[in-house]
Amino acid sequence: MIPILILYLLSAVGAVEETLLDTRTATAELGWTAYPSSGWEEVSGYDENLNTIRTYQVCNVFESNQNNWLWTTFVNRKGAQRIYVEMRFTVRDCSSIPNVPGSCKETFNLYYYETDSGLNVQGAALWAEMPYLKVDTIAADESFSQVDFGGRLMKVNTEIRSFGPLSKNGFYLAFQDYGACMSLLSVRVFFKKCPRVIQNYATFAETMTGTESTSLVIAMGTCVQNAKEVDVPIKLYCNGDGEWMVPIGSCTCKAGYEPEKAMACRACHSGTFKATQNSELCTPCPANSRSLTEAASVCSCRIGYYRADFDSPEMPCTGVPSGPRNVISSVNETSIILEWNPPRDVGGRDDVMYNIVCKKCRNNRKMCSRCDENVEFVPRQFGLTETRVFISSLWAHTPYTFEIQAVNGVSGKSTYSPQHVSVNVTTNQAAPSTVPIMHQVSSTMTSITLSWPQPDQPNGIILDYELQYYEKDQNEYNSSVVKSLTNTARIDGLRPGIVYVVQVRARTVAGFGKYSGKMCFQTLTDDDYNFELREQLPLIAGSAAAGVVFIVSLVAVSIVCSRKRAYGKEAAYSDKLQHYSTGRGSPGMKIYIDPFTYEDPNEAVREFAKEIDVSCVKIEEVIGAGEFGEVYKGRLKLLAKREISAAIKTLKAGYSEKQRRDFLSEASIMGQFDHPNIIRLEGVVTKNRPVMIITEFMENGALDSFLRQNDGQFTVIQLVGMMRGIAAGMKYLSEMNYVHRDLAARNILVNSNLVCKVSDFGLSRYLQDDTSDPTYTSSLGGKIPVRWTAPEAIAYRKFTSASDVWSYGIVMWEVMSFGERPYWDMSNQDVINAIEQDYRLPPPMDCPAALHQLMLDCWQKDRNSRPKFAQNVNTLDKMIRNPTSLKTMATITAVPSQPLLDRSVPDFTAFTSVEDWLSAIKMSQYRENFLNSGFTSLQLSTQMTSEDLLRIGVTLAGHQKKILNSIQSMRGQISQSTSAMA
Ligand SMILES: *[C@@H]1O[C@H](CO)[C@@H](O)[C@H](O)[C@H]1NC(C)=O
Ligand SMILES: *[C@@H]1O[C@H](CO)[C@@H](O)[C@H](O)[C@H]1NC(C)=O
Ligand SMILES: *[C@@H]1O[C@H](CO)[C@@H](O)[C@H](O)[C@H]1NC(C)=O
Repeated sequence: MIPILILYLLSAVGAVEETLLDTRTATAELGWTAYPSSGWEEVSGYDENLNTIRTYQVCNVFESNQNNWLWTTFVNRKGAQRIYVEMRFTVRDCSSIPNVPGSCKETFNLYYYETDSGLNVQGAALWAEMPYLKVDTIAADESFSQVDFGGRLMKVNTEIRSFGPLSKNGFYLAFQDYGACMSLLSVRVFFKKCPRVIQNYATFAETMTGTESTSLVIAMGTCVQNAKEVDVPIKLYCNGDGEWMVPIGSCTCKAGYEPEKAMACRACHSGTFKATQNSELCTPCPANSRSLTEAASVCSCRIGYYRADFDSPEMPCTGVPSGPRNVISSVNETSIILEWNPPRDVGGRDDVMYNIVCKKCRNNRKMCSRCDENVEFVPRQFGLTETRVFISSLWAHTPYTFEIQAVNGVSGKSTYSPQHVSVNVTTNQAAPSTVPIMHQVSSTMTSITLSWPQPDQPNGIILDYELQYYEKDQNEYNSSVVKSLTNTARIDGLRPGIVYVVQVRARTVAGFGKYSGKMCFQTLTDDDYNFELREQLPLIAGSAAAGVVFIVSLVAVSIVCSRKRAYGKEAAYSDKLQHYSTGRGSPGMKIYIDPFTYEDPNEAVREFAKEIDVSCVKIEEVIGAGEFGEVYKGRLKLLAKREISAAIKTLKAGYSEKQRRDFLSEASIMGQFDHPNIIRLEGVVTKNRPVMIITEFMENGALDSFLRQNDGQFTVIQLVGMMRGIAAGMKYLSEMNYVHRDLAARNILVNSNLVCKVSDFGLSRYLQDDTSDPTYTSSLGGKIPVRWTAPEAIAYRKFTSASDVWSYGIVMWEVMSFGERPYWDMSNQDVINAIEQDYRLPPPMDCPAALHQLMLDCWQKDRNSRPKFAQNVNTLDKMIRNPTSLKTMATITAVPSQPLLDRSVPDFTAFTSVEDWLSAIKMSQYRENFLNSGFTSLQLSTQMTSEDLLRIGVTLAGHQKKILNSIQSMRGQISQSTSAMA
């Protein structure tokens, strides 16, 4: 222990001695007590420096049994625990004294006696009774043989002794001489202490030494002003020699203060700072910062410069970076790589990062909005450390603007937005996205017809679709592929009653998109045979049993595919419907969806027909009777719309659920159409009774009766205009893949502006076996309007747009003949036979040859040779633009072996009266005029001129023409028959 203590000795700090008694400073008698009186004697003398001093001497060496005591006065110990006594004395060398007895001594004893107060004993008791404690026997280091005070020859000994611990107020010292010749030149009594000291920026008070010379006294330190502890406790040890040692803990100058002469802490000057408490000096403010006051622990940044939160005060203040430079973009389909150079000015920092702001624009870049969350950034969008980013999942063919912002650790401190560089990029094409869903349009034993919407993101013009299909029990590797130019396809060559897994994908010039999800569809079974013929309208149930089978097959489809079919998601589906396209030519064109592809046809109603609150509907009058109930004229006032006239079909009370469904299916179909030549659905009322279908009101009613009422009243151009409208409506339907199957003048409605609109999308006529209506002939699986129907549709139910074109030719004939019944009163079977033998309807009276030619084109036996509706529209448009093409009238080549053409003009030779004739040409209204004016015989009538007709009151030009034409034919026939007879 001791050597370590020495090691820690603080050499710089000297011990302090405090004197309690010093004889050398005495100017008067010391007044110490001596006993016996023959012993110690106080003498004045000089020390070695010839200072006057008071000494005590004793020299009774020739007498034996000496015991001479000398007591000091009371010494107050002043708190000291260990006392030091320094004695200076001279001792006579016994051998130098001639004849000295053996009792001569050269030593003396030092004692002390502790007490709180002074002594009250006298004489011998002083030494006999007091409990003295002996300090030591003091021997001279040097004795002298001759003492010569006058001659100033002296050998002075100095001895120091110490004693302790002391506890009372003070003490006496006693010197015992027992036969020496000596002189006590001076006595100094003192104690030692450690001085007040500042050590390690801590102040330690003056501290007394301990009781023993080896004692260590702990002294606690206090930090100097503006200093703080580094470690606590801060302490020093005061050793027995009054020396500080073993420093523990320290203080250092706090932030903003620096050490001054290792003693104090002074404030940093302005322009400098000290950030932390330590023993270092203040340093000048770092770049772009300053301190305006003293004692700064941090320098504040100059304007435009910042410190990040994690920047230390020692770091310079920094600025925001300038913008990145030289952006390069490389586009690959719908992904983009952006690369750039770092900013010129990084603001004095090395933590520059980049953020990408993505904006998707309209084509002119005038309108841009933030990109949606689907866009992917690699490695990331914000906080890029690299000068490169890969951006994908963008839209194809879309302009984008990217801003590349440069930011660093202090960008957040600036109130300005980060500087950036922008780049305009337009993505390229990409393969189309996935087709969301497929619908079964129809199925037979060997085929399935499907339709599907266009992908959400076609990413270009869709060239075609590819369907992959395989039997569900087989694996995918056995699949076959079918291509389709439109978004509908028929898969042929399938096996009956088999579930097929089908997927479809779209193709653009960028390649194929991904396959859609797998969906399952089933072909009809043998039991469903009846339905095979019905192809597109499987619900045309000839019998209840068939209906059940159909439902079963629907259920089967849904069992297999329920998870894949999204029929329940109406809203999402409605959105997708907007994208429906034929895929060829006219993007954005919808495709018709058979409401019966819905598991629940009510869903189709909800999707395609608007529900109208019954309070908006006002019924006015009955205008007819439909298959399901009365048809009314009424008014419809929708919110924020003008009140309009409306036709209201109602469903009579007591209907079955099936009837309701069939009734509303017409609304589901009509609701999908939007064309000026298609009757417009306003909405349905299904939440109240009666259930209603509300359409626009057509003032002039059905075209056939309208024409009959206005026989001969319209010019050819007016008639062509009507036919053109009907063709345009049919073109629209055919482009939507809708086959009407019952196109006839009775199903065309005419409004007050003579605009013709296709109507009657109901299914009822197929459903009811109402034999009382001769128009429709019951046949296998439904009824057919034979006179209007193409032969292949009659023969094997091949209903297509081409069969609609056939019907359209019949409608043209109806129009040109002002509502004449096609094939007059021939029986349906006769009509079928005649058509089979290539007989066709002759031109009606006054029918331009070009129009009759168009009719004949529509009646081509080979359905593929018939013109498309689009062609019909074009042809009619040309005629309207060039009316002279309508001047040439069709001529009747009367060949007797052609019964149909023979019927084109009544066989006048058969007429027996004027009445018969007028009735045959539907001019009976003029019967009275003829008879009253004397034209009572056919013979006479065939001589009539236009003036004659005008005179008898046939004023209408059309009627005049009709009668005159008939007269002309009659004359021809008569002359023919005459020549034949000849
Ligand atoms: C473009 O992207 C496609 C699809 O991500 C990738 O297969 C092709 O390699 C890319 N082309 C280039 C030139 O990077
Ligand atoms: C990007 O396009 C906009 C709009 O045309 C234009 O104002 C801007 O200058 C373009 N930016 C670049 C970097 O070409
Ligand atoms: C289906 O494919 C497997 C293996 O590819 C083959 O063994 C099997 O005959 C195929 N089945 C049909 C019906 O083609």
